Amino acid sequence: MARVVVFDETGGPEVLRLVDEPVPDPGPGEVRIRIEAAGVNRLDELTRSGASPLPVRLPHARLGCEGAGVVDAVGPGVEGLAAGDPVLIAAVPDMVSHGTYADCTVLPASRVVRRPEGLDPVRAAALWVAYSTAYGALVEKAGMRPGDTVLITAASGGVGRAAIQIARQIGAVPIAVTRHSAKEKELLAAGAEAVVATDREDVAEATARHTGGAGADIVLDSVMGPGLDGLARAARRFTGTLVTVGWLDPRPAPYPSNAITTHRYMSFEHTLDPAAVRRIAAFLFAGLRTGVLDPAVGRVFALEDAVQAHRYLADDGRDHGKVVLACAPSAGPVAA
Ligand SMILES: NC(=O)c1ccc[n+]([C@@H]2O[C@H](COP(=O)([O-])OP(=O)(O)OC[C@H]3O[C@@H](n4cnc5c(N)ncnc54)[C@H](OP(=O)(O)O)[C@@H]3O)[C@@H](O)[C@H]2O)c1
Repeated sequence: MARVVVFDETGGPEVLRLVDEPVPDPGPGEVRIRIEAAGVNRLDELTRSGASPLPVRLPHARLGCEGAGVVDAVGPGVEGLAAGDPVLIAAVPDMVSHGTYADCTVLPASRVVRRPEGLDPVRAAALWVAYSTAYGALVEKAGMRPGDTVLITAASGGVGRAAIQIARQIGAVPIAVTRHSAKEKELLAAGAEAVVATDREDVAEATARHTGGAGADIVLDSVMGPGLDGLARAARRFTGTLVTVGWLDPRPAPYPSNAITTHRYMSFEHTLDPAAVRRIAAFLFAGLRTGVLDPAVGRVFALEDAVQAHRYLADDGRDHGKVVLACAPSAGPVAA
């Protein structure tokens, strides 16, 4: 049997519960993964609470779109992966049926990536969603180049910190946006060239000041809401690009009226494409090797404490690092 976190109705963290389920066999082209650690993401929170734009099939919905573990069994026709291989999970678009808050899940082999030696499961579970989103939005979508100035909102969050590091890896210049000037030192230490704090300054004016009046070449926004107008004004006139990835502020957002390029980015656009996954993995693993990419883990909860993990995720004053669930013990197959 395997332990799986499920929910029967949408609502607060308390709707999550742990059940025992039979371990499924992988079908053709599939692998069964013994999950050692699962990352806890904002999308999970939206799905659990009923606010996700993706459909949720109830009851008995699973949660979790990222994780790391070991291949436990391979189905017919799978090549290049074998039982015992350490992997990380690159995409779970159907998390309500195959979610990673569990001791195991079965996925198409194309959805896993071999995990580099030395990358432990907890750090691996903190890597993929945040870093592949920042990479996909900045590099694949917005075409970030060395020397570009990149304005990054929610810079102290998971995607924001990843974006700062990825900008540095490319040779671009990251400018961090926070709502709190008290976070300035922390963000400079995290690699930001400059910090714009919205509790003390206008984002467009401050960005102009930091870019010699030019504006940012790229704006990466995780927030949306009314602040989008100021972000659009902070972008370089005519040639700037605004790419939005998140919606931390649920209030209505004005559509930018100035002449910049805008994109709405979902990481599944690339993480379901095997060729793009190879590019993402090559980039991220190179960054881990040189140390320029360094995923931070905030707190690790046991799988049975998923309710507490979700309460912690919702706490605005929490540590910036990733919330991770520790799943199956690190040795032995899941199947009895
Ligand atoms: N498109 C995709 O494929 C994709 C993938 C991953 C995540 N996302 C989305 O990207 C967003 C960020 O995810 P994350 O994991 O980085 O989140 P996170 O780690 O929870 O981000 C937390 C940070 O966001 C800032 N923040 C929180 N609420 C805010 C608000 N109402 N207004 C302004 N800033 C706020 C805070 O920074 P300050 O206190 O410093 O302001 C906070 O430190 C989420 O909406 C998530 O759903 C999208």
